[in-house]
Amino acid sequence: MTLRAFALERYFARHEFSAKHLLGSSDPEAMALADLLALEPGAEAALKEVWLGYTESLGDPGLRADIATHHPTITAEQILVFSGAEEPIFAFMHAALEPGDHLVVQYPSYQSHYSVAESRGIQVSRWHGDPANHWAPDPAELRRLIRPNTKAILICAPHNPTGYLYDFATWNEIIAIARHHGLVLFSDEVYQGLEHDPAQRLPHLADSYEKGLSLNCLSKSCGLAGLRIGWIATQDRHLFESLAAFKDYLTICNSAPSEFLARIAVRNMELLFARHRTRLVRNLDLLEAFFHRQSHRFRWQRPSAGTTTFPEYLGGSALSFCDRLVETTGIMLVPGNFFDMEGEYLRFGYGRQQFPEDLRLLEGYLEGNQGL
Ligand SMILES: Cc1ncc(COP(=O)(O)O)c(C=O)c1O
Repeated sequence: MTLRAFALERYFARHEFSAKHLLGSSDPEAMALADLLALEPGAEAALKEVWLGYTESLGDPGLRADIATHHPTITAEQILVFSGAEEPIFAFMHAALEPGDHLVVQYPSYQSHYSVAESRGIQVSRWHGDPANHWAPDPAELRRLIRPNTKAILICAPHNPTGYLYDFATWNEIIAIARHHGLVLFSDEVYQGLEHDPAQRLPHLADSYEKGLSLNCLSKSCGLAGLRIGWIATQDRHLFESLAAFKDYLTICNSAPSEFLARIAVRNMELLFARHRTRLVRNLDLLEAFFHRQSHRFRWQRPSAGTTTFPEYLGGSALSFCDRLVETTGIMLVPGNFFDMEGEYLRFGYGRQQFPEDLRLLEGYLEGNQGL
């Protein structure tokens, strides 16, 4: 079986660096290297001393220790550092699952959550969120989807593209279901820290479940996608060793300057989260007013976390709408087709500084084209 093209990433490859108004991106506003270095005295001089040889394949021990300070029980030895979050997803699908195994994936979903598995002959069931209920998936349906050959469940919390966040009771129920069936639970937590109400932040799964993996990175909640640093935390030693061995066939080890810079980000993570959260909530309030005025064109419910939201487009084909929009105005939204969604949905990303102006431009375009 072949690996399907990653539709969302192909669309970004076409438009991300030519479209002037990015209203569909999932990464929030990034920052300049100088601003990251300014977070810690002496950081700039120390960067110049970074040794450019190979780095440790499990990740810089200092970085692993810094990451572990964000966990109540996980230790540095239980953290495995990768290049971004995409690499560990790929590694997991190869190292933890075999052809003929069954994987349940919360849906809609970031495509690598299911396409890599499908390419290996792993059976995938989609655990659908309910668009009429903030895209919440139903735990009773999860129970029904489990088969004798189910090996793992993959969830995303906070969720891309819908912005859905589990409440604590549902979260515990999912862990209980996985534990009851002895399943690995893979929790993509790359948007953690961007709960609009910080009191709703869930614990990292890896601290709560012995067969759980927490996936994290600096690309989303910290806005540092260019560093390409991500990591897995898990108590499961066998899984950890399998992932580490698979990584030898991918990047082997991480970029030394990036690991140095990642330590600064990880030590200042709460500050970075808070900055992004403030902008996200401000932008989301504008988006809420927009959807209220545009309720004849979009059906929407306010998300509670993350950087993206996934309204239904009521004006016809979401794909044609997005293509026309980006070609005539340079405004980029993401059609739901790239999440393999049936129905007409769009992804909005509202983490960028320029968002208020770009949203105004979009509304002007809509008002000038009454047929849309
Ligand atoms: C849910 C989710 N997981 C993983 C990734 C990949 O992150 P990275 O850019 O760090 O590889 C993304 C990127 O959009 C994502 O949305």
